[in-house]
Amino acid sequence: MAALRILVSLLVGLCAYYFYTRETFSEEMVRGKRVLVTGSSMGIGEQIAYEFARMGAHVMVTARSEKRLQEVVQKCLSLGSASARYVLADMHNLTAAQKLAEEARSQLGGLDYLVLNHAGGDVRFGPFEGDMESVTSSMTVNFLSYAQLTVAAMDMLRESQGGIVVVSSLSGRIPSPFSVPYAATKFALEGFYSSLRAELHLRKIPVDVTVAVLGYINTDTALKVVGGKITMQASPKETCAQEIVKGGVMRRREVVYPYWPLKPILLLKDWVPELLEWLLRRSYLVENIL
Ligand SMILES: NC(=O)c1ccc[n+]([C@@H]2O[C@H](COP(=O)([O-])OP(=O)(O)OC[C@H]3O[C@@H](n4cnc5c(N)ncnc54)[C@H](OP(=O)(O)O)[C@@H]3O)[C@@H](O)[C@H]2O)c1
Ligand SMILES: *[C@@H]1O[C@H](CO)[C@@H](O)[C@H](O)[C@H]1NC(C)=O
Repeated sequence: MAALRILVSLLVGLCAYYFYTRETFSEEMVRGKRVLVTGSSMGIGEQIAYEFARMGAHVMVTARSEKRLQEVVQKCLSLGSASARYVLADMHNLTAAQKLAEEARSQLGGLDYLVLNHAGGDVRFGPFEGDMESVTSSMTVNFLSYAQLTVAAMDMLRESQGGIVVVSSLSGRIPSPFSVPYAATKFALEGFYSSLRAELHLRKIPVDVTVAVLGYINTDTALKVVGGKITMQASPKETCAQEIVKGGVMRRREVVYPYWPLKPILLLKDWVPELLEWLLRRSYLVENIL
């Protein structure tokens, strides 16, 4: 009985400590911050831009399609962004990635959040049959340009004690048949940014790294590419973007969305990978893929 009482008071104490010390998210934390969101002409990146805009940030969006970016900028302004602008850049081109960071410096005067979200290269969902062009272009667009942007923005982020938000995927944590080159780029991001986070910490450099591990999200691209080929349900891109922004601003190391479907998978993969792969095998409608 006494042991139980001690246990209960200990738990209550821990909960109180947790809620007391936990900083809560507020829009004030975002107002006036300078944010660059890549791949923001559509999909999750577009929604991330709107989240920052709503809370009064200075938003810079970028992608390749100018018309879409102009529309996104207009919507950011109407939602209440402190300012909104776009820069055209193709992330196949690492010089363009470097120039993009310089544009942020010259147009925003610095940067508080670098949100790396774009994905391209090769977005097919199908068997890997040795297409090396797909491997190299995916690596360039989804990984090398991220590293290049990070390098080019690091001085600004150090000055502002800013945050890097990296949009990754469950495919960066577990094997992903029919998206071999894509999964390779996401695993590369996980290695790069988790190592960088730890190193920045040891070197006492005050820049935080948040990695978002996403499941299946209902963007036009994802629905088109994997619709009818997997059995999973897509989660809403708007909520996804909210969770990413909140996690980034709160400087969390990780955002997992949707949380409950994904977390057990992440826990299983180290303990019982065979069981996990056996379970996941059922989510591929192979007859619709081959
Ligand atoms: N949707 C999902 O189910 C899902 C799941 C897990 C992870 N994710 C991750 O979430 C992120 C966003 O995905 P999404 O579904 O929102 O994708 P999306 O709707 O296809 O948007 C991709 C964005 O990247 C831009 N982009 C593509 N290639 C580019 C290039 N070469 N240079 C510059 N910009 C380029 C696109 O604009 P332009 O074509 O105009 O350049 C677009 O703005 C990606 O990192 C993806 O891996 C998505
Ligand atoms: C790459 O981007 C740079 C800077 O924007 C540009 O000068 C160069 O022409 C681009 N290269 C290619 C191959 O498009």
